[in-house]
Amino acid sequence: MTSYDSKTIIISGATGGIGREVTPKFSEYECNLILLHKNRSTQSQQYINKLSNQKAHINELIIDLTNPDEMNIIENLLQKKHLKVDFIINCVGIFLPSLLSNCDISILDKTLSNNLLAPISLIRTVFPYLALRSTSRIINISSVTAKKANIGQGIYAISKSALNTYTKCLAQELYRYKIPVNSISPGFVKTAMSEKHYTTFKNKVPFKRFASPTEVADLVLFLTSSMADYITGENFIIDGGFSNL
Ligand SMILES: NC(=O)c1ccc[n+]([C@@H]2O[C@H](COP(=O)([O-])OP(=O)(O)OC[C@H]3O[C@@H](n4cnc5c(N)ncnc54)[C@H](OP(=O)(O)O)[C@@H]3O)[C@@H](O)[C@H]2O)c1
Repeated sequence: MTSYDSKTIIISGATGGIGREVTPKFSEYECNLILLHKNRSTQSQQYINKLSNQKAHINELIIDLTNPDEMNIIENLLQKKHLKVDFIINCVGIFLPSLLSNCDISILDKTLSNNLLAPISLIRTVFPYLALRSTSRIINISSVTAKKANIGQGIYAISKSALNTYTKCLAQELYRYKIPVNSISPGFVKTAMSEKHYTTFKNKVPFKRFASPTEVADLVLFLTSSMADYITGENFIIDGGFSNL
């Protein structure tokens, strides 16, 4: 079993449907968890308060990762606490349905900003503070739409395809430090983002259900463990067979 004691772990989109299941995988250890999200709400505060009762030291940062002027919030924390970062886990993302044929440029702009620029911006900001050793990890949550998209998911699929390519290229750059960089591409996951599609799409999945966010979080945990030391530049599809039909 890998121990996460004394690690510093940054999770973007930590309060989202998937991020909420990723975070507790680490909060039972004596690690530093830096949890990034965009909006303070009663719900997110309750969630963060609950985590604070566990062993991990919780640092919540409210930040818009699409705004370059806000990135110093992260740097300030890392400098102030003299932290070296072990894992960057990007769960940040949005989905806005839109057709490509008459595509709304503001939707294109927002989607690329949140799904591509935000994770890239986080990684480039944190990179000077990343522990340059083989136990470090970078994981980006992508989407199976990069392989198989339904109508209305085109812009989202483009953003996630680009994120996969970014992940592969970054993995090559980090070979010299032996740091694994991978992406995870869930199909339908039972979260607020996908709730309204459950009835329509459930039976289109060979396993006849959506993934639970915990199943995605388990894959994140595996990729951060020593069992995944030799895996890099890969994209892991977790979709109950949907994209293989
Ligand atoms: N759910 C699915 O079915 C599914 C399937 C495949 C892939 N994915 C991908 O998995 C990831 C997580 O999805 P999810 O369902 O957990 O999404 P979600 O519930 O909508 O959560 C999104 C998270 O990202 C944060 N966020 C959004 N924009 C941000 C910004 N500009 N700056 C900082 N934080 C921002 C949100 O913060 P606030 O809550 O504070 O606004 C929230 O914590 C996304 O990349 C998504 O594309 C999801």
